[in-house]
Amino acid sequence: MCGIVAYVGHEDAWPIIFEGLQRLEYRGYDSAGIAVIDPNGELQFRKTVGKVNGLGSANGSNPLHGWAGLGHTRWATHGKPSHANAHPHTDCQNQVAVVHNGIVENYLELKRQLQAEGHRFASETDTEVITHLVEEGLDQGLSFEDAFLRMGHAIKGSQAITAIMQGQEGKICAMRLGYAGGIVVAHTDGQGIVGSDLPAVLPILRRDRNGGRVGFLESGEMAVVTREGVDYCDMDGKRLNKGLRTVSPEEIVIDKGGRRHFMLKEIMEQPQAVASALRERVDFDAGRVELPGFPLSSEEVINLQRVVLIGCGTSLNAAMIGRHLIETLGGLPAEAEAASEYRYRDPYIDDRTLVVSIGQSGETADTVGAMQMVREKGARLITICNAEDSQASRVAEYTLQMRSGIEIGVASTKTFIASLTILNLLATYIGQVRGYLSAEDCRRLVDDLANAPRLVGELLSHDAAYQRLARQYSKFNHFLFLGRGINTPVAMEGALKLKEISYIHAEGYPAGEMKHGPIALIDTEMATVAIAPKNGLYDKVLNNIKEVKARNGTVLAVITEGDEDLASEADHTISIPQAPDQLIPMLATVPLQLLAYHIAVLRGCDVDQPRNLAKTVTVE
Ligand code: AGP
Repeated sequence: MCGIVAYVGHEDAWPIIFEGLQRLEYRGYDSAGIAVIDPNGELQFRKTVGKVNGLGSANGSNPLHGWAGLGHTRWATHGKPSHANAHPHTDCQNQVAVVHNGIVENYLELKRQLQAEGHRFASETDTEVITHLVEEGLDQGLSFEDAFLRMGHAIKGSQAITAIMQGQEGKICAMRLGYAGGIVVAHTDGQGIVGSDLPAVLPILRRDRNGGRVGFLESGEMAVVTREGVDYCDMDGKRLNKGLRTVSPEEIVIDKGGRRHFMLKEIMEQPQAVASALRERVDFDAGRVELPGFPLSSEEVINLQRVVLIGCGTSLNAAMIGRHLIETLGGLPAEAEAASEYRYRDPYIDDRTLVVSIGQSGETADTVGAMQMVREKGARLITICNAEDSQASRVAEYTLQMRSGIEIGVASTKTFIASLTILNLLATYIGQVRGYLSAEDCRRLVDDLANAPRLVGELLSHDAAYQRLARQYSKFNHFLFLGRGINTPVAMEGALKLKEISYIHAEGYPAGEMKHGPIALIDTEMATVAIAPKNGLYDKVLNNIKEVKARNGTVLAVITEGDEDLASEADHTISIPQAPDQLIPMLATVPLQLLAYHIAVLRGCDVDQPRNLAKTVTVE
């Protein structure tokens, strides 16, 4: 959840670390800190509560000077956001500076032990035990690397750790344990950089016009980075020959594309996200879905008994839509469950169960934890994921890559739309292989999908109208989002987007359930957003809208273009194009994303970095 950057080279470390931290703020922004080894070989620290900008600026008047350093942006777990709890942490003798992402599960036990031995603690964090453990190793005469390695054996849990040491100003030690925290290492031209994720290492990587080469640490691996190069080893200190990945120039371009926020830019990229997700997976001439490398043989697909879809947050909403798609297009029983719950159940699954995990990051601890449980039980496991080289991809047998490009806004948008595109493909593929869909059905479905990028683009062109609606609805402090069938998860996603970026209380509910409780909430203070396209459940949702209107509620309805009947019932409407059922969730979501976005902007919220959240939740 937290972000880590460390640099060693021949340039001033501060601006490089500062820029890397700003790029990692999507992981957390409760506090930030930088430590640099100054020209006298002394460790110097700067810390702030809140965002990285609180430290100053990349090239401000008073940055710390030195050619090696590290920094951290924090999402608080152990200890509130405060100066004392901000990283980097150091030991009693101020010898090492440590930044950490993850949780030291046995920290209390270690802390008591270290305190009994005379170590004094300055913070409430679990991280601080790491600094004292390294100090203990150094006191016993171990080298920096060996003390760091020894510390790695003492702590329990999933984490990424990076350290520098005074007197060793040309060296960074980095380690990954378990799956909670990623570590990427890049080295070019006498400069080494370590980060939690690719964006952090961009300041160095982008200097290479052809892209650069990076190493991703696996669990139980350590890197020692110096000006001369990088040495990788395992937890026994045995040298590793690590395969490096080339990063393309496109991957290292991150900007807002002229938009005010990343979220808006990413919403606007959705036609492209749909098209990229379809690329090379559909044979439009033959009218078929092709999933090259799909790990189940046709016989195994035919023998499947059910599909379980798992994810968290927005990805869970996608999973719930996927359940409908797998049932209606794939002809198989399907269920969707929050990965955070699923991982602690003891579900009956076997090799005739296909589990599909969904995740933008592929690093969400709950999702990866559930995937590991699934593998142990012998079910078949694939993942739908946006980030490349993610933990989810490593655990799964097969990855359906979203190919949406990096998503920076904490609120997932284009990756939700990409997930729905891929779920359509997967469900059609399963139905096609199992003979549940006829050749004509498949042709119709892929032709419909071919239209999806255009339809999404059309909706985006009405942004000015959504912005006008946002002005009217931004005054409400309570929202109820209603949907039915495949559109119930759309209501949940609409509510999630609104609450996470505007802090407005919003509930997503199956419209038919409203009369069993939430109807008591309806009054002039509550806005209801009803997803009411002209499909099989249209009359039912219309009745639910009448029930709200009869109780003085205000209704904004998402309707099919030209639906005058509903337009006369609702206070306001948003039209979406006439489209087959399986595409409606994608289309209905786009205006809800923009509505949430504009309401949040009008209310002065920090859209790209909403309070308390982090883009990638690598803790339970
Ligand atoms: C999305 O807007 C949220 N910020 C959040 O719910 C997110 O979808 C969730 O944390 C899962 O992330 P993942 O897709 O990377 O697994």
